[in-house]
Amino acid sequence: MARFHPLPVAAVDRLTDDSVALTLSVPPELREEYRHAPGQHLALRRQVDGKEIRRTYSICSPAPDPAGEGPALLRVGVRLVEGGAFSAYALKEINVGDELEVMTPAGRFTLDPAPGLYAAVVGGSGITPVLSIVATLLAREPAARFCLIRSDRTAASTMFLEEVADLKDRYPQRLQLVTVLSREEQQAGLPSGRLDQERLSGLLPALLPVERVAGWFLCGPYGLVQGAERALRELGVARDRIHEEIFHVDAGSAPAAMVPAPAHSTVTARLDGRGGTWPVQDGESLLETVLRNRPDAPYACKGGVCGTCRAFLVEGEVRMDRNFALETEETEAGYVLACQSHPLTEKVELDFDR
Ligand code: FES
Repeated sequence: MARFHPLPVAAVDRLTDDSVALTLSVPPELREEYRHAPGQHLALRRQVDGKEIRRTYSICSPAPDPAGEGPALLRVGVRLVEGGAFSAYALKEINVGDELEVMTPAGRFTLDPAPGLYAAVVGGSGITPVLSIVATLLAREPAARFCLIRSDRTAASTMFLEEVADLKDRYPQRLQLVTVLSREEQQAGLPSGRLDQERLSGLLPALLPVERVAGWFLCGPYGLVQGAERALRELGVARDRIHEEIFHVDAGSAPAAMVPAPAHSTVTARLDGRGGTWPVQDGESLLETVLRNRPDAPYACKGGVCGTCRAFLVEGEVRMDRNFALETEETEAGYVLACQSHPLTEKVELDFDR
């Protein structure tokens, strides 16, 4: 069950003009709760004008060894989003020693380290979870290799430039690094420009044996992730080898459609071992109904992106406005995003504990 704890800020490192890495210190008694898989994220919350806001940020530090204790430090990358209430605060106001309200790690954009060849296509701040994935994999699996294809606008705007260069120095044979800068001429290697579907369709087979890649990790803006997925599907890559995490889908960009709930629709929810049944009001998402009655219900983005509100649909039918978080296997297995779900039947039952 996801929980928030106050964690002190141990370091604030400026990465680029518009991004920072925040390092959080985890006291020994909470380390087990903050044990994470490479690729997971943390939700941070704060009160602004009496309203609670939450934002999720990917962990960029390597995951702790399963045999050892949980992490003493957690590092997340934060890029300034225009008008972003949290990112502006993170960049301008957070100092070492401040305490932040931090949710325990969540997310299924993860890699279970195993021998083999893996690859990622990332754009902008999409490098953040992939940095943790690459560092953890190469440290833990001597027989694993990784091909990282990253795109950014310019070298100056590229997050974690040094950290990625350090990994390349440490694993010169096992890490293949390809950087594409969309607004800069490059002297050698790839020409500059955007990484779109057409470009990737030609580029990927030239870089690596596409059919031998055990797992693809696509992370960044919606357009890049969609283009990369289409390129991979066109190249014959099976859907279950492709993992996606979309950044920069503005929660306000697609307001939930006013779906009239069937008259007297109710939602029954099981959460942290306790259940309850409540009426759903017209137009509201099931998460909103549950939150009115159980403020401890898990959520972060409310935009269908982070997957924190995932619940198992035990009974009834729902309609989701959008889903950028759940894999096809998860929706087929019966999981839904509560923040995007509206009832289509009079009775809906969700289990947040499964
Ligand atoms: S809260 Fe992020 S997907 Fe629902």
